[in-house]
Amino acid sequence: MLVVFLGPPGAGKGTQAERLVEHLKIPSLSTGQMLREAKESGSKLGNSIQELLDTGQLVDDKTVVQMVVDCLNEPRCRNGALLDGFPRTIEQAKSLDVFLADTSFQLDWVVQLVVPEEELHQRLAERYLKMDSPRPEDHPDHIPTRINLYNSITSHLTEYYSSKGILGEVNGMGTEDEVFERIKSSLDNYNK
Ligand code: AP5
Ligand code: MG
Repeated sequence: MLVVFLGPPGAGKGTQAERLVEHLKIPSLSTGQMLREAKESGSKLGNSIQELLDTGQLVDDKTVVQMVVDCLNEPRCRNGALLDGFPRTIEQAKSLDVFLADTSFQLDWVVQLVVPEEELHQRLAERYLKMDSPRPEDHPDHIPTRINLYNSITSHLTEYYSSKGILGEVNGMGTEDEVFERIKSSLDNYNK
């Protein structure tokens, strides 16, 4: 089973992905997490993407697609995966389709978490203040960049997947439990 989590920064993708992987018994692949780990490792790749990551800009498609393809080829993904934060551009979505065409994987379902912009600002600002070592991209200066990139680039994936009939929009407001229940029923409806 292959599932994509789509949604703006702060929508709750990571929070809900953690719960859903327990439920579906598949690993979660978070491109944001992988890129942050690369940055922290001080590798050549990590150094080259540091500035982009810290200021909330998108890393180039080629790098991100290669990272995801490498992970999907690992044995731990043989029963599928939950893709959190990938794809984020139409180019990435098309590259994923090309990869999938050559494998036994099928993209089953795309869940889009819908949260009003005001709430996104609030959640990310709160996290910035709360964490001992806050994520640099959560700095109030970078939140508008991230939300604008979502609106101008990533949001086009809604039409892309909706035209394939595999998009489920889920209200991301309310408690984490409430959102999780909605995600599960959206998935159940899809499976019927
Ligand atoms: P990534 O790590 O994917 O970050 P993001 O999507 O911008 O933002 P978050 O991860 O913060 O949002 P989320 O939706 O996961 O929400 P979360 O559960 O954390 O990417 C980081 C960077 O990597 C990007 O900026 C880019 O540079 C690069 N990158 C990643 N993927 C890429 C790609 N495919 N292509 C190119 N570049 C890429 O929740 C947020 C907060 O809200 C938390 O504090 C949480 O506790 C709280 N919260 C969650 N649910 C609720 C709720 N129901 N009610 C109240 N608060 C809630
Ligand atoms: Mg996340």
